[in-house]
Amino acid sequence: MLHLCLMQGKKILLGISGSIAAYKIPFLVRLFIKAGAEVKVVMTPAAKDFVSQLVLSTLSKHSVLIELSSNDEWANHVALGRWADIMIIAPASCNTIAKMANGICDNLLLSVYLSATCPVWIAPAMDEDMWKHPSLKNNLATLTAYGNTILEAEYGELASGLIGTGRMVEPEQIFSSVSNFLKKKLRLENKKAIVTAGPTYENIDPVRFIGNHSSGKMGLAIAEALANEGCSVQLILGPSNVHTSNKNIQVTRVISAQAMFEATTTHFEHADIAVMSAAVADYTPTEIANEKIKKKEDVFTIALTKTKDILRHLGSIKKEHQFLVGFALENKEERKYALQKLKDKNADFIVLNSLNDIGAGFGLDTNKITIFEKNGQEHAFPVKTKNEVALDIVEKIIERTT
Ligand code: CTP
Repeated sequence: MLHLCLMQGKKILLGISGSIAAYKIPFLVRLFIKAGAEVKVVMTPAAKDFVSQLVLSTLSKHSVLIELSSNDEWANHVALGRWADIMIIAPASCNTIAKMANGICDNLLLSVYLSATCPVWIAPAMDEDMWKHPSLKNNLATLTAYGNTILEAEYGELASGLIGTGRMVEPEQIFSSVSNFLKKKLRLENKKAIVTAGPTYENIDPVRFIGNHSSGKMGLAIAEALANEGCSVQLILGPSNVHTSNKNIQVTRVISAQAMFEATTTHFEHADIAVMSAAVADYTPTEIANEKIKKKEDVFTIALTKTKDILRHLGSIKKEHQFLVGFALENKEERKYALQKLKDKNADFIVLNSLNDIGAGFGLDTNKITIFEKNGQEHAFPVKTKNEVALDIVEKIIERTT
């Protein structure tokens, strides 16, 4: 028996794409409505063949939207994407997943998806061969990297008559996962954080720079994990391809170590938590040539000057209530250097990644960390995805700050 009011006031946006599992969605709408939620439905044109619009609009008490415009009316996809507390795309067909992963928006559902600032959950449904295809796996990995949650397809009887993996997770399961997520207490509400992420580029001349291989993925995952706990996050991001649409994250893009220093110190005064995960250049060219440097000498030397150490600076000015987390990427005597950085930079945590660990390092989707605390405690974790590592770090931050 459902508890009425379990989801009172919650706004749920359901996106249905063209898959046979769409016939189960009216039942899901009914579960949400009975629990007190408000539900709006958008569908792809292909979904019309699998489920009745009339049934969905009757159950949800709202018109079902399919087209970007009809006659003289325009469906405001931006408003819909901002209205929702959560967007659930169920069933998500192989085609819709591919378009979502590639920023294609040739129908209303995709435009709403690209405008959504709320958490997005995706429940794939397809035949097993499609489910196993590497392109689908890559697309799901891309969507996970965008911060979307995938409700993995299940094993069972498929529309083709075959038995295998590809069935959409059942509506009851979607309902209970979503209700648990929405009723979760946000533990960092009213807190502010700064996260630095990505590399920095130090200009040598108008066409060249000194940089590094940091992807920014770890920092983004930390920013998302903090934001998903209600924290208002300022992400200071070096040159990187990562993106976020999380409404609790404001992104300031910077290029050089000096620009990262300035942006970070500006925001630090109001921050409760600061996580320095950027791979900041330690040195920058002493002079930047105005013209492209011509090739002349066999051996060419560039004079470099030390950059400002942002973490060290924040450690020197931080107030009692501010919590400071730094990273250490080491390839020898890891523990010794991590403990030294903890002390020298006056951080509360140092998160160590060792370059000697398989699954840890730049560019990968996984990481292996040990957290060293100011109070002497140490916590070693196994290899995990960067999203899971971010949750572990944020969990420890919450333990110490709330
Ligand atoms: N860091 C920083 N500003 C810098 C250099 C580093 O804020 N100019 C921060 C990094 O974001 C990280 C921590 O300091 O959180 C440690 O960075 P790391 O490169 O491992 O150490 P360094 O202090 O630069 O020392 P070394 O390169 O000699 O190991």
